[in-house]
Amino acid sequence: MTCFPTPGFHYVDGTLHAEGVALSRIAAEIGTPTYVYTTEGLKAAWRAYADAFAGRDVDICYALKANSNLAVVRTLAQLGAGGDVVSSGEMHRALAAGIPADKIVFSGVGKTREELAEALRAGIHQINVESLPELDMLSSVAVELGVEAPIAIRINPDVDAETHGKIATGRKEDKFGIDYGHASAAYAKAMALPGLNPVGIAVHIGSQLLKTTPFRQAFGKLAGLVRELQAQGVPLSRIDLGGGLGVPYKPEDASPDYPAYAQAITDTVGDLGCRVTLEPGRSLVAAAGLLLVRTIHVKEGLHRRFLVVDGAMNDLIRPAMYEAWHSVVPVAQPAADAALDPVDIVGPICETGDTFARQRPMPPVAPDDLLAFLTAGAYGAAMSSTYNSRPLVAEVLVSGAEYAVVRRRPSFQESLSLEKMPEWLSPRG
Ligand code: LLP
Repeated sequence: MTCFPTPGFHYVDGTLHAEGVALSRIAAEIGTPTYVYTTEGLKAAWRAYADAFAGRDVDICYALKANSNLAVVRTLAQLGAGGDVVSSGEMHRALAAGIPADKIVFSGVGKTREELAEALRAGIHQINVESLPELDMLSSVAVELGVEAPIAIRINPDVDAETHGKIATGRKEDKFGIDYGHASAAYAKAMALPGLNPVGIAVHIGSQLLKTTPFRQAFGKLAGLVRELQAQGVPLSRIDLGGGLGVPYKPEDASPDYPAYAQAITDTVGDLGCRVTLEPGRSLVAAAGLLLVRTIHVKEGLHRRFLVVDGAMNDLIRPAMYEAWHSVVPVAQPAADAALDPVDIVGPICETGDTFARQRPMPPVAPDDLLAFLTAGAYGAAMSSTYNSRPLVAEVLVSGAEYAVVRRRPSFQESLSLEKMPEWLSPRG
């Protein structure tokens, strides 16, 4: 078993550390399960984009859905990130974390009237519209507020991103965007409606793309469309190319080629006279985070050994939901010659789906041993829930030798306090 290289995480004197802080210390002081993020990892991920796009007119709007923790968002905002949000909740987080409204793009297939109004009142940079009914709705909201909405229309280019079916978004059968062939009519409608200013065009074909070929295909199609629309008099000055590159989860996964991605963008849309926006989420935060758990039991089944840990699918749903693979490493460094035996790593939730890894070769693990699920900074805590009435998972951010709890674990009392007994069930005095 290899400790997959993740910036900011390394063994020091036999114990896995996040920068200068031992994970065993965090587990002892904060408990488990806990997400741990490193500032170094966030900075390294940001640098990969900054270096690849140095000298090019590109705005990077971090997709908050990947990890919307305020401290994580602020770290990226301080490096220069704008925000890509898909709900009023995310917009409020982006603003609270310090991203100004004029650096925020609002995406999503089903924004409500209230969400559109809030976005316009905040003075948002751009709203990405995904359907003809949304054009009508936004126009009426903008007129009501007496403002003009800067919009991009999201196009569905019918390109297969060659990723997991649940996160491919650019095929014609997917719910996203306006069909490529209907783009011209959609822009004509947008130009005719009051309160809309069609300044841009957008595309997002899916997440966890490790190859640049599908990007190149989609961006090339979009470029053809931009030329047609510009010739028809649509004043397009912005192109939003959606989410970023995928990340390697398995040690054998190839690292995505950032320069090739940047080159694909220059080659396809570089000469259109438009400013480019990117909305990376996963690639900015995934490798910077891990989920720290403690082993409760080592259970010998009839045919398998199970490591029952105190983290569960409510804390990290990716394996259950997308058959996702996360490296699992012990916090106590195993001996280099430790024998590896296959185990199933499972959580305490009452579903067989609550399984993180099947038949994973692991060195010996004993009850109480700490384990870390790597590359869990994206779509981990952000997708966590309280299923089985488990408290929402805690989050910690490390910087050098310091760490801070950036989301504390709520108490049972706090969780119960959101609920209320109706009159007829309350004991009467
Ligand atoms: N922009 C739009 C419009 C999106 O829908 C997404 C992701 C992004 C940007 C960010 O894409 P990224 O850079 O992260 O690939 N929960 C899934 C991933 C869902 C992605 C949804 N949309 C997972 O855990 O794999």
